[in-house]
This record gives sequence, structure tokens and C-alpha cells, in this order.
Amino acid sequence: MLPTSLALFGTGLLGHGVARRFLASGLSVTVYNRTRAKAEDLGMLGARLSSSAQEAVEASELLILCLSDAAAIRQTVFSHSCLSRLSKRILCQMGTIGPEESQEIARLASAQGARYLEAPLLGNGKDAEEGRAQVMIGADPKDYEPWQELLGLLGRCLWIGPVGKAAALKLALNQLIAAETAAFALSLGFVRRSGVPIESFLQILRESSLYCPTFDKKLARMWQRNFGQPSFSVRLLLKDIDLFLGNAERLGLRSDALEGAREIVREAMESGRADLDYSALIDVIDPLSSLGTKPEDPVLSRA
Ligand SMILES: NC(=O)c1ccc[n+]([C@@H]2O[C@H](COP(=O)([O-])OP(=O)(O)OC[C@H]3O[C@@H](n4cnc5c(N)ncnc54)[C@H](OP(=O)(O)O)[C@@H]3O)[C@@H](O)[C@H]2O)c1
Repeated sequence: MLPTSLALFGTGLLGHGVARRFLASGLSVTVYNRTRAKAEDLGMLGARLSSSAQEAVEASELLILCLSDAAAIRQTVFSHSCLSRLSKRILCQMGTIGPEESQEIARLASAQGARYLEAPLLGNGKDAEEGRAQVMIGADPKDYEPWQELLGLLGRCLWIGPVGKAAALKLALNQLIAAETAAFALSLGFVRRSGVPIESFLQILRESSLYCPTFDKKLARMWQRNFGQPSFSVRLLLKDIDLFLGNAERLGLRSDALEGAREIVREAMESGRADLDYSALIDVIDPLSSLGTKPEDPVLSRA
């Protein structure tokens, strides 16, 4: 059964897509965003805009969290003014945070008489809006069951295990974003600087087992150096790499390969690209200035 109302916190790239999906499904959605102006377009679609997190907590039993990280969650729904209002709420956390952070938030929620469900999402805001994301669930099944239909509006849902397990799985997936993007950007730069026709590179790659769909998704951006209107930012990719590295170390894994990608993402951050699409890391790997020209457009679409 679908809930009659929900309150969504954080109307960034992910939160926008999630809110739009729920609104299009006819649900009553209250939104809270720290920067209110960034939520106003959702008001035009029928969302109720809250002027404070406290007001949003009071608006519904179900609180959907699409905030950037665990610190933002603590500063928002666990702020002094919200804390005493959390009793009997269910917190559904959809951002990417670490497994231990998620377990800690579950404990904080429980201490206030609230329930907690982690539901990190693979896909971007547009995927959520179009109902084709993948939602990983980490929760006691009895906390998940009532919200299964709602989360199913966003895409395919898979129960992974208790709180912490879906968060861990999400990190395992997100380190691939960094690794695959850095590897593809490096090959693109190599091809470009060697004077190999990009069409030949793509033709062979697309027919091979080395191919990943993400390559074609990011190809036009990388080749044209167009990183505006991000689907996911450089800033948050660095956050996820750091979460992964911290957890990988605890698990006794060697992650030097990812450390290399981290350096590139960090440089992209520090060179003013923090809020650009993460495909901008090609600018660090293959700076155009060293060749002086922007590459000509190749045939970018798949034949
Ligand atoms: N974008 C994606 O494709 C995608 C996909 C899956 C998962 N995720 C994860 O989902 C989460 C949100 O990602 P996003 O791409 O939507 O990020 P985003 O566009 O940067 O939005 C971040 C949101 O968090 C809010 N926020 C940040 N710090 C805050 C604080 N201290 N107090 C209150 N609010 C704060 C921002 O409010 P302001 O507007 O006021 O800054 C904004 O609403 C992240 O954990 C990300 O890793 C993203």
C-alpha cells in the first residue's frame, strides 16, 4: 500500500528525481531543502515546501532522506529542534553513506523511538524520476515491508540484509564509478594524443568484453568537455571514494588502484570542478592545454 504522505529532505540531484517521481505518482510530498530556492520548482509541481526541517518532520510519519552525507543527516533530522519530534517516525535513508555511519544513524533513530531503513539507490536522479533505478534495502524486513510498494516506484528493489549491508554494497558499486571513469578517460586521452581515430577505438571497444555501458554514457561529455548540469558531482564522488577506502582498509583490502583515481578526483575538486559532472576528471588526466586545442567531434553515437 502506498502512504498518503511523505516528507523528503534534500532536493539536490537525487532528491529532485525522487520527489518528482513521488509527485507524479499522486503522493502528497512535503520537501525541505536547506537552500529553499533550490526546491521551489518542486512547489510548482505540487510539493509543499517546508521552511524548516522541524516543520517537515512534523508533516509526515515517513521521512525520506536524500542528503549529501551522514553529517548533513545529523545536522538536519537529528538537529536539536527535530530530535524530540522523531518519535514514531520512519527514516528512509537514500544517500550514499558508510555502513557504520548508517548503523550509527539507526541507533540514533531508535533512541528517539523512530525506525530506520537504509535504501541507497543506484542510478541518477533521472533514473529515479523514470522509475528505473535500483534500490538496495538494508533493514529489518518488518521495517521494509510497509514501504516496499513506495520504493518500487523508483525502480527495482532488492533486500540485501540488515542495516549496513546495503550501504556496504552501494560503496562496492560506487568505487567502480571512479575506477571505470578514470580508466576510460585515460584510454580516450591516449587515443587522442596518439592520433588514433576515436571511431576505430570505439568500434573495437564496443564489440569487446572490455566495454561498459557507462563509457558511452559519458563519452560525449568527455570528448566535448561538457560537464555542466551534472548527474553526479566530483565532490560527492570523492566522498564515496573516501568512504570506500576507509572501509576497505578495515577489511584488509589493498586499494592502491583506487588511491590513484582518488588523486585525480581530488585534483579535479581542487581545480574548481567540485560541482561539475564527475566525467570532468578527464580534464585532469588529459588536460587540453597541453595540446592547445579542443578535439574535433567524432561520431559519438553508437552505429
Ligand atoms: N546524484 C546521483 O546520481 C546520486 C545517485 C545515488 C546516490 N546519490 C547520493 O545521494 C546523496 C545526495 O546526492 P545528490 O547528488 O543529490 O547531491 P547534491 O545535489 O549535492 O544535493 C545534496 C543535498 O544535501 C543537502 N545538504 C548538504 N549538506 C547539508 C547540510 N549540512 N545540512 C542540510 N542539508 C545539506 C543539500 O542542500 P543545499 O541545496 O542547501 O546545498 C542538497 O539538498 C549523496 O549521498 C549521493 O552520494 C546521488
